[in-house]
Amino acid sequence: MIISFNSIKGGVGKSTLAVNFAAWLVREGYDVLLVDGDEQETASDFTAWREQTLGNTGYTLVNMTGANLRKQVEQMRSKYDHIVIDTGGRDTTSQRAALSVADVSMIPFAPRSFDLWTINKVIEVIDEIQAIRTEPIIPYAFLSRADIRSADNREVAQALSDFQQITFLTHPICNRKAFSNAAGVGLAVFEVEQPDLKAVSEINALFNHVLHGHNTPATA
Ligand SMILES: Nc1ncnc2c1ncn2[C@@H]1O[C@H](COP(=O)(O)OP(=O)(O)OP(=O)(O)O)[C@@H](O)[C@H]1O
Ligand SMILES: [Mg+2]
Repeated sequence: MIISFNSIKGGVGKSTLAVNFAAWLVREGYDVLLVDGDEQETASDFTAWREQTLGNTGYTLVNMTGANLRKQVEQMRSKYDHIVIDTGGRDTTSQRAALSVADVSMIPFAPRSFDLWTINKVIEVIDEIQAIRTEPIIPYAFLSRADIRSADNREVAQALSDFQQITFLTHPICNRKAFSNAAGVGLAVFEVEQPDLKAVSEINALFNHVLHGHNTPATA
């Protein structure tokens, strides 16, 4: 499966979740390619830290941006069980290339910075992409960097579930220091000593849904 992380807004947690997903798929025993499609190279920096911390990253990392991304990913498809693509929030060429080649698009929305313009723009891009694809992409929207308890989460969840073009997943990723702390040393949240079990169960629920298409118990 090719899973792309996309968003119109920056800083919503794409890179954090993309690297966690790559490490999570490795733990599940898959052969994984992580594509850094962002010139900011957040996923590459994470991978460099990971190499220092673990010695071995467990996945293969490549950097690809621009229109080339589509062709190169297409060529590598058969060599891996899963390909995870991280894209930059502002780079529309790489985003569209990723959306044209991926099977699934993961679109995080951070409730505090949410506005209707963003979701309307996302829907517009999804409509355009679906029109040129032979097989439709599966676009998953979900809350990222959500407040642990907040009415904002509910409002945004409601707004997102109103659009038929995207599937809203009720598996929020909350704002937790564990995500940034782990990423700072190149680790996924479940790989650190004394993991934050709530963070771990959030990613298990979200990633299991994406990989298996159904809910699994939220256990660490
Ligand atoms: N669930 C979370 N809880 C706490 N901090 C988070 C979480 N997700 C991301 N962050 C932090 O928020 C910042 C932005 O996250 P990240 O780089 O993953 O976003 P992005 O969508 O990839 O941004 P960009 O569009 O610039 O590529 C980082 O400092 C990261 O550590
Ligand atoms: Mg990023």
